[in-house]
Amino acid sequence: MDQISNSWWQNGIFYQVYPRSFQDSNADGVGDLAGIITRLPYLQELGIDAIWLSPVFPSPMADFGYDISDYTGIDPLFGTLEDFDALVEAAHALGLKVILDLVPNHTSDQHPWFIESRSSRDNPKRDWYLWRDPKPDGGAPNNWLSEFGGSAWTLDDETGQYYYHAFLNQQPDLNWRNREVREAIYDVMRFWLRKGVDGFRVDVIWHLIKDAQFRDNPPNPYYSEGRPPHETILTQYSTDQPEVHEVVAEMRRVTDEFGSRVLIGEIYLPLQRLVAYYGNDLAGAQMPFNFALLSTLWSARSVEKIIAEYEAALPHGAWPNWVLGNHDRPRVASRVGQAQARVAAMLLLTLRGTPTLYYGDEIGMHQVAMAPDQVRDPFEKNVPGIGVGRDGCRTPMQWDATPHAGFSTSTPWLPLASDFAHENVIDLDADDHSILSLYKALIGLRKQLPQLVAGAYEPMAAQGDLLLYRRRAEGEALVIALNLGAEPASITSSSIGFGSEILLSTFLDRKRERVEGILNLRGNEGVIVGRSNFQAG
Ligand code: NOJ
Repeated sequence: MDQISNSWWQNGIFYQVYPRSFQDSNADGVGDLAGIITRLPYLQELGIDAIWLSPVFPSPMADFGYDISDYTGIDPLFGTLEDFDALVEAAHALGLKVILDLVPNHTSDQHPWFIESRSSRDNPKRDWYLWRDPKPDGGAPNNWLSEFGGSAWTLDDETGQYYYHAFLNQQPDLNWRNREVREAIYDVMRFWLRKGVDGFRVDVIWHLIKDAQFRDNPPNPYYSEGRPPHETILTQYSTDQPEVHEVVAEMRRVTDEFGSRVLIGEIYLPLQRLVAYYGNDLAGAQMPFNFALLSTLWSARSVEKIIAEYEAALPHGAWPNWVLGNHDRPRVASRVGQAQARVAAMLLLTLRGTPTLYYGDEIGMHQVAMAPDQVRDPFEKNVPGIGVGRDGCRTPMQWDATPHAGFSTSTPWLPLASDFAHENVIDLDADDHSILSLYKALIGLRKQLPQLVAGAYEPMAAQGDLLLYRRRAEGEALVIALNLGAEPASITSSSIGFGSEILLSTFLDRKRERVEGILNLRGNEGVIVGRSNFQAG
């Protein structure tokens, strides 16, 4: 892959906005669409190309919007459909694409479809959800577990059957073997595509189809104490069924009806199974999210191995992508530490493929500990005390040093990080050596250097804490050297090339420093090295 691709979603940098926590415009302590609009110039200046909004649709908020009661509206908490149109228009005017979260696996139990479905066994929408008779002893139909604790089956007393919910019992799963369900969701997609959205991030796409016979899942032989209870069984029959690929291809056909749009899939699977979601002839998702960096051990060899495995597993012509954080996982700055968060940023923005940033990672936001009375996440409430809570990575964006960090004029729905008075956009922007300045420099370089976007990825042998690779395009290579450890390290390899110089260090110094065959790195330092007099772009 040596040529520069033209698709915006391949060239671009994606940024996840968690709307509740980005910018509040009406002083209710919760972010909203009008707030996001006011922050678009910030995203444009940062160099972002596309924003993905977590759900903004009407919802009882049992799972903060991932329980939708109306797929084609906007929850009043976030604004109105007019606000949404204004957001798309304003984003597009600034050259930013808008990606919506599509949650097709389950609705809210307050969705009119489910209210109808549960009303009687012979309701026309009964088959839109997954209803099963109790076992002879009255128990749940099988051993499947909810990801948020307990059985995945809830008995409806009125009609005497159980319904399946992979998550909360307020989130009943739709029956994706039912053609009407498929068409209803495809129409939802068309509704938003007509409004100008540029694509979808599809929630738990690998969950959509379940085993037709609802067989029991096998036990997980690798389960370890302290892990959430649903991990005691594997999801062999409840997720990643062969027929799901037909659904993904159908969704892709819907987005393709509208030209250059993108279909992104949320998928937590081993790399080999993940890449199947590109589909036959790449007619599936253009970007099955690659979450390998979210759970890897942060060591040079582990990361090197993941990159190699992913590059090798990609089907011919499939476009890679990388993610460092999202609203379900601990913040990267807390996972790897503040010093390594800079190295992680350089990794994310120099790997082959589309990077997706999580809001606030560019200012080094870290996990915020929640006191018991501050916990909002239903996962933590249902499965307390083992650290599954997701509130800590969803705290308000830190814009400035004013009392509520510029996020709101009243108390935010989740507490702010205690260090926001100096760790905020205004302060970090004024500091030439801050992580925000590093993100800007990295994004700037990525926009100038074709090597960093579509250049070939060439691993280089390295030891210890060093991760080394080249990115080559148009006959020109860059070397990326990342020190994943705290001790200094040096690279004596002449393969770096004589007459090279440092284009960027994660410390934001050493610019244009010449490298004559030996390259010394400080602890926690990453550098991008290119030929001297290298003419960018
Ligand atoms: C995946 C979403 O990312 C997560 O936040 C949500 O809780 C589950 N899907 C259930 O919708």
